[in-house]
Amino acid sequence: MFTSALTFPAQFVWGASTAAYQIEGAWNEDGRGESIWDRFCHTPGKIQDGDTGDVACDHYHRWPEDVELMKRLGLRAYRFSIAWPRIFPQGRGSINQAGIDFYSRLVDALLAAGIEPTITLYHWDLPQTLSDTGGWPARDTAHAFADYAETMVKQLGDRVQNWSTFNEPWCVSFLSYQLGAQAPGLRDEKLAVQAAHNLLVAHGLALQSMRAVKADIKAGIVLNLWSLESVEDTPASRMLIERLWQRDLGWFLDPLLHAEYPVLAWQEREHVAPQMQPGDLKLIAQPLDWLGINNYNRQLFDEQGQRLRQVPGSEYTEMGWEVHGPGLRRLLTTLSQRYPVPPLYIIENGAAFKDILTPDGQVHDPRRINYLRQHITAVHDALQEGVDLRGYFVWSLLDNFEWGHGFTKRFGLIRVDYDTQKRTIKDSGEWYSGVIRKNQVEA
Ligand code: FCB
Repeated sequence: MFTSALTFPAQFVWGASTAAYQIEGAWNEDGRGESIWDRFCHTPGKIQDGDTGDVACDHYHRWPEDVELMKRLGLRAYRFSIAWPRIFPQGRGSINQAGIDFYSRLVDALLAAGIEPTITLYHWDLPQTLSDTGGWPARDTAHAFADYAETMVKQLGDRVQNWSTFNEPWCVSFLSYQLGAQAPGLRDEKLAVQAAHNLLVAHGLALQSMRAVKADIKAGIVLNLWSLESVEDTPASRMLIERLWQRDLGWFLDPLLHAEYPVLAWQEREHVAPQMQPGDLKLIAQPLDWLGINNYNRQLFDEQGQRLRQVPGSEYTEMGWEVHGPGLRRLLTTLSQRYPVPPLYIIENGAAFKDILTPDGQVHDPRRINYLRQHITAVHDALQEGVDLRGYFVWSLLDNFEWGHGFTKRFGLIRVDYDTQKRTIKDSGEWYSGVIRKNQVEA
């Protein structure tokens, strides 16, 4: 069925990703403060089936077993996030040593297992106290973030080289403050635009404070990016794609890599333009050691400029996301053409499907394998085209708490039974393990 094996560069990094709130549980243990996701989940009606991350995968207690599983898969790297309220329960001020100890032990175990830790400082769980004083639309939050980032590099920078400030700024700002879909669940465009600006400022301040502690860390940021495509190629369709690029992707990429906001999108948002301080754009555009990309699907538009939600002949995941590997290659080449990009990493890519535990106690998930194969092939294609891509991480290591969808969407390479917390490596996990071992994918 497969005609060739595609080989990756010898140093290519194969990993898997998680995020603190989605796996840790132990939401009120060992001095952890409340986060906006605790508050959001505990508010009736916000999460499917009333689920919460209170226990999730209980990774806070089961991390040794989880590191053991990573080792069995042969992961070279593991991307996880730090729960800010475990470190600073009030967002700033005194450090909660138990929080530091938890991540410190995890890092030691990873290193002992030969797995490189890659830390995300902010994967959405803002300390509630900082939300109460204005959250991301308040500039002061950016300074609190830079202090927290500095603290983490002081604590773990002797052992951890790879750091990213934010996961998916678009979600942290527009999805959370304008579209209301994620914590804190507000619907105010002006607040969203200000949140987006402040978190970019926070990113810039954090890079400075982190590098002041340790100059040779590898620091970056992780953006959610998707390929924008049209069924036709006309001046109107090209204009539409350009506008959408600037509005959703360029809004973050341009300040980070060009030190300016994109012109068309700025005009569209002029009525809600963010408050800025002199020097902000230069601050935001600190040199990046790497750029992380989270990619799940493309967006395809028809002749009327409407997004096609059901592309004829396409397969869809449980999230309602189209399975279309070539979109990832197009995204990567477009990105490399438009910007002076640093080395790139795919930090999240994966698929939710309805998994079935068969009587043999296994999860046979050929559709997830197909999704991963398509996307890993796209990564290889992009490498062939000269894109400077250094690694690929699957979302996710474990089935976990999928935000507003609660526990209904399973993305893991490893199944988690939420009643017993039993872990089972799925077929896709075994398959991915083979890809890593051989450093090759069958195409
Ligand atoms: C991304 C998030 C990640 C996970 C995947 C499915 O947007 O970064 O936490 O929820 O989607």
